[in-house]
Amino acid sequence: MSSSSPILLILFISTFMINISSSSPNFPDRYLKSLTNPPSSSTPTESIEVTKPPPPSNPINPNCSILVLQNYFNNTPTSPPFTTLYSPPANCTGPWNKIFLEYSVSSDDGEQDDRISGVWLNGVEILRTSTPQGNPSGIFWKVRKDVSRYSSLFTQSNLTLSVMLESESIDDWFTGFYQVNVSLFYYQDQDLNLTRISPVEFIEVEPLKLNRKFGELSEASVKGMYNAGAFTNETSPDLIIPVSDNGDDGCWFRIKNESDIHSKTIQIPQNTKKAVLEIYVSAHGNDEFWYSNVPNAYIESNHLSSQRGNGAFRQVIATVDGVTVGSVTPIPVIFSGGINPLFWDPVVAIGAFNLPTYDIDLTPFLGFLLDGKNHSFGLGVAYSKSVWLVNANLHIWLDHGSDIVTAQSSSYRAEPMQLQNQTQFQTLDGQFKIEGQRKTEYSGWVNSSAGNFTTRIYEEFKFQNEIKLSNNGQDKEVEQKIKVKTEIRIENDIGHEISKSIISRKYPLMIKISTLPGAEADTFVSTADVSHSTKEKYTRALSSNEQIQIESENSQESSGWMLVKDRLILSGSGSTSQTLTYKDLNGFYSRVVSAANGKILQDNSTVASVSPLSA
Ligand SMILES: *[C@@H]1O[C@H](CO)[C@@H](O)[C@H](O)[C@H]1NC(C)=O
Ligand SMILES: *[C@@H]1O[C@H](CO)[C@@H](O)[C@H](O)[C@H]1NC(C)=O
Ligand SMILES: *[C@@H]1O[C@H](CO)[C@@H](O)[C@H](O)[C@H]1NC(C)=O
Ligand SMILES: *[C@@H]1O[C@H](CO)[C@@H](O)[C@H](O)[C@H]1NC(C)=O
Ligand SMILES: *[C@@H]1O[C@H](CO)[C@@H](O)[C@H](O)[C@H]1NC(C)=O
Ligand SMILES: *[C@@H]1O[C@H](CO)[C@@H](O)[C@H](O)[C@H]1NC(C)=O
Ligand SMILES: *[C@@H]1O[C@H](CO)[C@@H](O)[C@H](O)[C@H]1NC(C)=O
Ligand SMILES: *[C@@H]1O[C@H](CO)[C@@H](O)[C@H](O)[C@H]1NC(C)=O
Ligand SMILES: *[C@@H]1O[C@H](CO)[C@@H](O)[C@H](O)[C@H]1NC(C)=O
Ligand SMILES: *[C@@H]1O[C@H](CO)[C@@H](O)[C@H](O)[C@H]1NC(C)=O
Ligand SMILES: *[C@@H]1O[C@H](CO)[C@@H](O)[C@H](O)[C@H]1NC(C)=O
Ligand SMILES: *[C@@H]1O[C@H](CO)[C@@H](O)[C@H](O)[C@H]1NC(C)=O
Repeated sequence: MSSSSPILLILFISTFMINISSSSPNFPDRYLKSLTNPPSSSTPTESIEVTKPPPPSNPINPNCSILVLQNYFNNTPTSPPFTTLYSPPANCTGPWNKIFLEYSVSSDDGEQDDRISGVWLNGVEILRTSTPQGNPSGIFWKVRKDVSRYSSLFTQSNLTLSVMLESESIDDWFTGFYQVNVSLFYYQDQDLNLTRISPVEFIEVEPLKLNRKFGELSEASVKGMYNAGAFTNETSPDLIIPVSDNGDDGCWFRIKNESDIHSKTIQIPQNTKKAVLEIYVSAHGNDEFWYSNVPNAYIESNHLSSQRGNGAFRQVIATVDGVTVGSVTPIPVIFSGGINPLFWDPVVAIGAFNLPTYDIDLTPFLGFLLDGKNHSFGLGVAYSKSVWLVNANLHIWLDHGSDIVTAQSSSYRAEPMQLQNQTQFQTLDGQFKIEGQRKTEYSGWVNSSAGNFTTRIYEEFKFQNEIKLSNNGQDKEVEQKIKVKTEIRIENDIGHEISKSIISRKYPLMIKISTLPGAEADTFVSTADVSHSTKEKYTRALSSNEQIQIESENSQESSGWMLVKDRLILSGSGSTSQTLTYKDLNGFYSRVVSAANGKILQDNSTVASVSPLSA
C-alpha cells in the first residue's frame, strides 16, 4: 500500500501535528496511547520506575516533612515555571543526615503526551523528571530522590523553588492536567531500617557472606544500604552555584545546535578546596532519539523532510573560559511516548522519572579558578539538533580552616575525540557505523589547611553505534554501546597515594523495529524490541588496604506491536521485564518486575543484609 511510504507518512504527520517536527517511519518515534482503547483498569493506576534500592517510602518516620509546593499544571506549554518560596521547617532544625524529595502527581483523566519537568531551588536543579502518558481511569505516580547532596541549600530561607512542566506540543486535543505536590522529608536518623522501608514486600534472606575486612568501615555498615555516602565519608558541598538560565522559560538552557553554547559568569570563593560540576541533561525534538539519527547524506539523497540527522553521536561539553574541561555522552532515556508507549505502562523506561546526572571533577583546574576573577562556565552539545535542555550545578567545598587556598593545575592531556564513521546506503536501505574513543588525563594540587593534595584524573571513553536499515527502510536496527571509566587518585605532598576511586559505567542499548502497512488506509503496524541497561561499578581503595565496592545493574527488555493511525495507537500489545541488582558492603538487593498491557504481572524483590561485624 502506497500510504506506508515514508514520504506520504511524513506529510500526514506534519499536518496532524502542529509543533512537532516531521519524522519518517524509518526511525523510532513518539506515539500516543489512545484513550478509546479499553482501559486496563477501572481505578487510577500507578506508574513506576524500578530504581536502585528505593529510598524510604512514605511514611517512614522522617523527623519532619513539608509540603513545599502544590499546583495544578494544565495544558499551558508557554507558561513560565511555577514558583514558591522555600524555607526550612521552623521547628525542626538540622543538621539532617538525609533529605528526600518527593514529586507526587495525579492526573484524573484526559489525554496527555509525555512531558519534561525540572525542579530548581535558587536556580540549582534538584530533579529532572518526565511524565507517563494518561489513562482513561487516571494515573498517579511518585518520584523519590535523595537530595542530601544539596543540603547546604535546604538550610537557607526564602529561596525560590521553581517547577517547570513543559508539554511537547500545543493541541486542544490534550485535555489532561496534572496535580503536582513537591514534599521534602528530613531525617536525623542514621540507621534507616530496612524492614521499615518497604514499598514492596521485602523478603529477608540469609545474610550474604561478603568478603569484608574493612576495620573501621564495619561501623558504617550498620547505617543501612541506602546510605552509600556513609562508605565514602563524603560530606555534602558547602556551596552550590547554578550554571543555569535566569529566564522565564525555566532555568534550563535550550541548546539548538552545535554552536549554541550557553554560559554563566561565576566567581568562586578563594578558599575553595574541591569543585565538581554536575550536569543535568535531556534530549528532545529532533534529538529525542539521537542514537538513531542518520547521516545528513542519507536524508538529502532520499529527499526526506526529516530533520533527524547529524548521525548518531552526541556529547555534552563543559567549558571554562572557552576551554573544554569535560564531556559526557548521556544515557539514552526513552520517554513514555517513545518507540511503543505500551512498553512503558505502568513501568517507565530506565531513568524516565529520575534522569541521571553526570559529575565532572574540576578540582585539578582550581589553579585557574582561584584567582579571584570571574570565569565563564559554558555548556554545549556536540553535533546537536534542536533541542537539548541542559544546565549544571557547580558544587564547591570550602576550607573552613583558611581564607585562602592555593592551587596549581599541573597537567592536562586530552586526545581529541577520534570518530570513525562508515556510511553506506542505497536509497532507503543502508548501514551506518560510528566508533569513537577518547582518553583524558588531568591533574593539579590544592594546598589547604588539610594539607597539600594532588588530584589526578584519568578517563577513558568508548562509543559504538550501528544503525541498519533494510526492507526499503521499513526494518531498522540500532545497536549502541557506551563505556566510561573514570579513575580519581589523590596523593599527599610526598607523592604517596592516599585514595583511589574507579567509576565504571556501561550502557548498552538495542532497538529493532519493523514497520508494515496496515489493512486500512493511512495505518501501519510497528513491531519493536528494545533492550537497554545500565551497569555501574564504584570501587574506592584507601591506604591500609581497605576497599569499598558498590555495584549495580539495571536491565530492561521490552517487546510488542501496535497498529497506528496518525500518531495514535489503535490497538496493540506491549510487555517489559526488568531486573535490577545492587550490591554494596551492607548487602544485596534485587528486584524483578514484569508487566504487560498496563498491568504488573510480577514484582519480587530480595534484600540480603550483612549484619554488622564485630571487629
Ligand atoms: C529523629 O527520628 C529518629 C527516628 O525516628 C529518632 O530516633 C530521633 O530521636 C529523632 N531525632 C530528633 C531530634 O527528633
Ligand atoms: C512542627 O510543627 C508542626 C505544626 O506546628 C507540628 O505539626 C509538628 O509536629 C512539629 N514538628 C516537630 C518535630 O516538632
Ligand atoms: C497533594 O497534597 C494534598 C494535601 O495534602 C493531597 O490532598 C493531595 O492528594 C496530594 N496530591 C498528590 C498528587 O499527591
Ligand atoms: C523570609 O521572608 C519573610 C517574609 O518576607 C520574612 O519575614 C523573613 O524574615 C525572611 N527570612 C529570612 C531568613 O530572610
Ligand atoms: C528494625 O525495625 C524492626 C521493626 O521496628 C525491629 O524489629 C528491628 O529490630 C530493627 N532492626 C534494627 C537493626 O534496628
Ligand atoms: C571518615 O572520616 C573520618 C573522620 O574524618 C576518618 O577518620 C576516616 O578515615 C574516614 N573514613 C573513610 C572511609 O574515608
Ligand atoms: C544555532 O542556534 C542559535 C540559537 O538559536 C542560532 O542563533 C544560530 O544561528 C544557529 N546556528 C546554526 C549554524 O544553525
Ligand atoms: C562522522 O560523524 C560525525 C557525527 O555525525 C559527523 O559530524 C562527521 O562529519 C562524520 N565524519 C565523516 C568522515 O563522515
Ligand atoms: C564578576 O561579574 C559580576 C557580574 O557578572 C560583576 O558584578 C563583578 O564585579 C565581576 N567581578 C570581577 C572580579 O570582575
Ligand atoms: C599551605 O596551606 C597552609 C594552610 O592554609 C598554609 O599555612 C601554608 O603556608 C601553605 N603552603 C604554602 C607553601 O603556601
Ligand atoms: C604541593 O605538592 C606539589 C606536588 O608534591 C608540589 O609541587 C607543590 O609545590 C606543593 N605546593 C605547596 C604549596 O606546597
Ligand atoms: C513473585 O511474584 C509472583 C507474582 O507476584 C508471586 O506469585 C511469586 O510467589 C513471587 N515469587 C517469589 C519467589 O516470591
